[in-house]
Amino acid sequence: MYRRAKEMWVARGGYPGGRAVVLAGPEAQEVEALRDYFRLPPAQVLFVDRDPRGLYVAEKKWPGVGTFHGELKDALQEVDEIGFLNLDFMGKYDRNVCLSAKAARGKIKLGAVIAYTFFKGHEYEGQWGFRRQKSVIEKVLGRPTRTTDEIRFAGSAACLAEDFALATLQYRWSTSYRSMTERSIGSPMGVLLLQNSVY
Ligand SMILES: C[S@@+](CC[C@H](N)C(=O)[O-])C[C@H]1O[C@@H](n2cnc3c(N)ncnc32)[C@H](O)[C@@H]1O
Repeated sequence: MYRRAKEMWVARGGYPGGRAVVLAGPEAQEVEALRDYFRLPPAQVLFVDRDPRGLYVAEKKWPGVGTFHGELKDALQEVDEIGFLNLDFMGKYDRNVCLSAKAARGKIKLGAVIAYTFFKGHEYEGQWGFRRQKSVIEKVLGRPTRTTDEIRFAGSAACLAEDFALATLQYRWSTSYRSMTERSIGSPMGVLLLQNSVY
Protein backbone atom coordinates (compact mmCIF):
# COMPACT_ATOMS: atom_id res chain seq x y z
CA MET A 1 0.00 0.00 0.00
CA TYR A 2 2.83 2.44 0.90
CA ARG A 3 4.70 1.51 -2.26
CA ARG A 4 1.61 2.22 -4.39
CA ALA A 5 1.00 5.54 -2.65
CA LYS A 6 4.61 6.60 -3.16
CA GLU A 7 4.48 5.61 -6.84
CA MET A 8 1.44 7.84 -7.27
CA TRP A 9 3.34 10.81 -5.82
CA VAL A 10 6.54 10.08 -7.73
CA ALA A 11 4.53 10.02 -10.99
CA ARG A 12 3.46 13.61 -10.22
CA GLY A 13 6.83 14.91 -8.98
CA GLY A 14 6.78 14.02 -5.28
CA TYR A 15 4.79 14.25 -2.06
CA PRO A 16 2.10 16.91 -2.54
CA GLY A 17 2.73 18.63 0.81
CA GLY A 18 0.32 18.84 3.74
CA ARG A 19 0.22 16.63 6.82
CA ALA A 20 0.24 12.83 6.73
CA VAL A 21 -2.47 11.76 9.20
CA VAL A 22 -2.70 8.16 10.44
CA LEU A 23 -4.35 6.21 13.26
CA ALA A 24 -1.62 5.06 15.62
CA GLY A 25 -3.06 1.72 16.80
CA PRO A 26 -1.49 0.34 20.00
CA GLU A 27 2.01 0.05 18.49
CA ALA A 28 2.36 2.98 16.04
CA GLN A 29 3.54 0.52 13.42
CA GLU A 30 3.47 3.11 10.63
CA VAL A 31 6.42 5.13 12.00
CA GLU A 32 8.93 3.28 9.81
CA ALA A 33 6.83 3.60 6.63
CA LEU A 34 6.29 7.33 7.11
CA ARG A 35 9.81 8.17 8.31
CA ASP A 36 12.05 5.78 6.36
CA TYR A 37 10.00 5.07 3.24
CA PHE A 38 7.97 8.24 2.67
CA ARG A 39 10.89 10.25 4.17
CA LEU A 40 8.61 12.81 5.76
CA PRO A 41 9.87 15.13 8.50
CA PRO A 42 8.30 14.38 11.91
CA ALA A 43 6.44 17.70 12.13
CA GLN A 44 4.57 16.84 8.92
CA VAL A 45 3.12 13.65 10.42
CA LEU A 46 0.21 13.37 12.85
CA PHE A 47 -0.53 10.15 14.75
CA VAL A 48 -4.09 10.12 16.10
CA ASP A 49 -5.85 7.69 18.41
CA ARG A 50 -8.52 7.63 21.10
CA ASP A 51 -6.26 5.07 22.83
CA PRO A 52 -3.04 6.82 23.97
CA ARG A 53 -0.73 3.76 23.96
CA GLY A 54 0.46 4.04 20.35
CA LEU A 55 0.91 7.80 20.70
CA TYR A 56 3.53 7.27 23.44
CA VAL A 57 5.25 4.69 21.22
CA ALA A 58 5.27 7.12 18.25
CA GLU A 59 6.74 9.98 20.36
CA LYS A 60 9.43 7.68 21.75
CA LYS A 61 10.40 6.15 18.39
CA TRP A 62 10.27 9.44 16.49
CA PRO A 63 10.96 12.58 18.55
CA GLY A 64 9.12 15.64 17.24
CA VAL A 65 6.29 13.71 15.56
CA GLY A 66 2.80 15.14 15.98
CA THR A 67 0.26 13.31 18.13
CA PHE A 68 -3.41 13.89 18.93
CA HIS A 69 -5.25 11.98 21.65
CA GLY A 70 -8.94 11.82 20.74
CA GLU A 71 -11.30 11.33 17.83
CA LEU A 72 -9.95 11.47 14.28
CA LYS A 73 -12.70 13.87 13.21
CA ASP A 74 -11.58 16.33 15.92
CA ALA A 75 -7.89 15.96 14.98
CA LEU A 76 -8.73 16.72 11.34
CA GLN A 77 -10.45 19.98 12.35
CA GLU A 78 -7.03 21.19 13.52
CA VAL A 79 -5.15 20.27 10.34
CA ASP A 80 -5.00 22.76 7.45
CA GLU A 81 -3.81 20.63 4.53
CA ILE A 82 -3.59 16.86 4.04
CA GLY A 83 -1.22 14.96 1.72
CA PHE A 84 -1.84 11.45 3.08
CA LEU A 85 -4.69 10.12 5.20
CA ASN A 86 -4.97 6.51 6.32
CA LEU A 87 -8.53 5.67 7.38
CA ASP A 88 -7.49 2.39 8.95
CA PHE A 89 -10.30 1.91 11.50
CA MET A 90 -10.43 -1.80 10.56
CA GLY A 91 -14.21 -1.68 10.66
CA LYS A 92 -17.06 -1.14 8.26
CA TYR A 93 -18.25 1.98 6.43
CA ASP A 94 -19.84 3.69 9.40
CA ARG A 95 -20.33 7.18 10.82
CA ASN A 96 -16.70 7.23 12.04
CA VAL A 97 -15.49 7.08 8.43
CA CYS A 98 -18.16 9.45 7.19
CA LEU A 99 -17.60 12.12 9.90
CA SER A 100 -13.80 11.95 9.52
CA ALA A 101 -14.10 12.50 5.76
CA LYS A 102 -16.48 15.42 6.34
CA ALA A 103 -14.01 16.98 8.82
CA ALA A 104 -11.31 16.85 6.13
CA ARG A 105 -13.40 18.62 3.47
CA GLY A 106 -11.51 21.29 1.58
CA LYS A 107 -8.14 20.17 3.05
CA ILE A 108 -7.13 17.38 0.66
CA LYS A 109 -4.21 18.61 -1.48
CA LEU A 110 -4.10 17.92 -5.19
CA GLY A 111 -2.14 14.66 -5.54
CA ALA A 112 -2.96 13.58 -1.96
CA VAL A 113 -3.58 9.89 -1.33
CA ILE A 114 -6.34 8.53 0.91
CA ALA A 115 -6.20 4.93 2.08
CA TYR A 116 -9.25 3.13 3.47
CA THR A 117 -8.99 -0.28 5.15
CA PHE A 118 -12.08 -2.28 6.11
CA PHE A 119 -13.27 -5.68 7.33
CA LYS A 120 -14.52 -7.84 4.46
CA GLY A 121 -17.31 -10.30 5.03
CA HIS A 122 -19.01 -8.58 7.97
CA GLU A 123 -21.54 -6.80 5.77
CA TYR A 124 -25.25 -7.57 5.72
CA GLU A 125 -28.14 -6.20 3.66
CA GLY A 126 -29.73 -3.99 6.33
CA GLN A 127 -26.47 -2.42 7.55
CA TRP A 128 -26.38 1.39 7.19
CA GLY A 129 -22.97 1.61 5.47
CA PHE A 130 -23.58 -1.33 3.15
CA ARG A 131 -26.98 0.01 2.08
CA ARG A 132 -25.45 3.43 1.47
CA GLN A 133 -22.48 2.02 -0.50
CA LYS A 134 -24.89 0.08 -2.71
CA SER A 135 -27.22 2.98 -3.39
CA VAL A 136 -24.44 5.55 -3.99
CA ILE A 137 -22.50 3.35 -6.44
CA GLU A 138 -25.68 2.25 -8.24
CA LYS A 139 -26.49 5.92 -8.81
CA VAL A 140 -22.97 6.53 -10.19
CA LEU A 141 -23.03 3.43 -12.43
CA GLY A 142 -26.65 3.84 -13.50
CA ARG A 143 -27.28 0.11 -13.05
CA PRO A 144 -27.72 -2.46 -10.24
CA THR A 145 -24.49 -3.73 -8.65
CA ARG A 146 -23.40 -7.25 -9.69
CA THR A 147 -21.11 -8.42 -6.89
CA THR A 148 -20.51 -7.78 -3.19
CA ASP A 149 -16.94 -6.70 -4.00
CA GLU A 150 -18.32 -4.05 -6.34
CA ILE A 151 -20.36 -2.66 -3.41
CA ARG A 152 -17.39 -2.92 -1.03
CA PHE A 153 -14.70 -1.33 -3.17
CA ALA A 154 -16.41 0.87 -5.77
CA GLY A 155 -19.18 1.63 -3.23
CA SER A 156 -16.68 2.77 -0.58
CA ALA A 157 -14.84 4.91 -3.14
CA ALA A 158 -18.10 6.57 -4.20
CA CYS A 159 -19.16 7.20 -0.58
CA LEU A 160 -15.73 8.65 0.25
CA ALA A 161 -15.91 11.01 -2.76
CA GLU A 162 -19.34 12.11 -1.50
CA ASP A 163 -18.24 12.49 2.14
CA PHE A 164 -15.03 14.38 1.26
CA ALA A 165 -17.16 16.38 -1.23
CA LEU A 166 -14.40 15.75 -3.75
CA ALA A 167 -15.44 14.91 -7.31
CA THR A 168 -11.72 14.55 -8.22
CA LEU A 169 -11.10 11.67 -5.79
CA GLN A 170 -9.98 8.89 -8.14
CA TYR A 171 -10.06 5.12 -7.48
CA ARG A 172 -6.41 4.07 -7.99
CA TRP A 173 -5.78 0.66 -6.44
CA SER A 174 -7.32 -1.98 -4.17
CA THR A 175 -6.40 -5.31 -2.65
CA SER A 176 -7.65 -7.96 -0.23
CA TYR A 177 -5.60 -9.71 2.44
CA ARG A 178 -5.94 -11.58 5.72
CA SER A 179 -4.94 -9.77 8.92
CA MET A 180 -3.24 -12.85 10.41
CA THR A 181 -0.92 -12.56 13.43
CA GLU A 182 0.98 -15.10 15.54
CA ARG A 183 -1.87 -15.09 18.05
CA SER A 184 -4.93 -14.88 15.78
CA ILE A 185 -6.22 -16.36 12.54
CA GLY A 186 -7.24 -12.81 11.64
CA SER A 187 -9.97 -11.57 9.37
CA PRO A 188 -10.34 -10.89 5.62
CA MET A 189 -9.63 -7.23 4.91
CA GLY A 190 -9.96 -4.86 1.97
CA VAL A 191 -7.75 -1.86 1.19
CA LEU A 192 -8.54 0.96 -1.17
CA LEU A 193 -6.27 3.76 -2.40
CA LEU A 194 -7.77 6.94 -3.79
CA GLN A 195 -5.99 9.98 -5.11
CA ASN A 196 -7.16 13.55 -5.49
CA SER A 197 -6.28 14.08 -9.11
CA VAL A 198 -7.80 15.65 -12.19
CA TYR A 199 -6.54 12.80 -14.39
C1 LIG B 1 -6.31 -0.78 13.10
S1 LIG B 1 -5.73 0.36 14.27
C2 LIG B 1 -4.63 1.37 13.34
C3 LIG B 1 -3.40 0.63 12.98
C4 LIG B 1 -2.31 1.44 12.31
N1 LIG B 1 -2.82 2.24 11.21
C5 LIG B 1 -1.22 0.51 11.83
O1 LIG B 1 -1.04 0.30 10.61
O2 LIG B 1 -0.55 -0.05 12.68
C6 LIG B 1 -7.14 1.32 14.51
C7 LIG B 1 -7.01 2.29 15.68
O3 LIG B 1 -8.00 3.30 15.51
C8 LIG B 1 -8.42 3.72 16.76
N2 LIG B 1 -9.73 4.37 16.51
C9 LIG B 1 -10.88 3.78 16.10
N3 LIG B 1 -11.81 4.71 15.86
C10 LIG B 1 -11.23 5.92 16.13
C11 LIG B 1 -11.69 7.27 16.06
N4 LIG B 1 -12.92 7.57 15.66
N5 LIG B 1 -10.85 8.26 16.41
C12 LIG B 1 -9.59 7.97 16.82
N6 LIG B 1 -9.10 6.72 16.91
C13 LIG B 1 -9.92 5.70 16.55
C14 LIG B 1 -8.44 2.50 17.62
O4 LIG B 1 -8.26 2.84 18.98
C15 LIG B 1 -7.24 1.71 17.06
O5 LIG B 1 -6.09 1.89 17.83
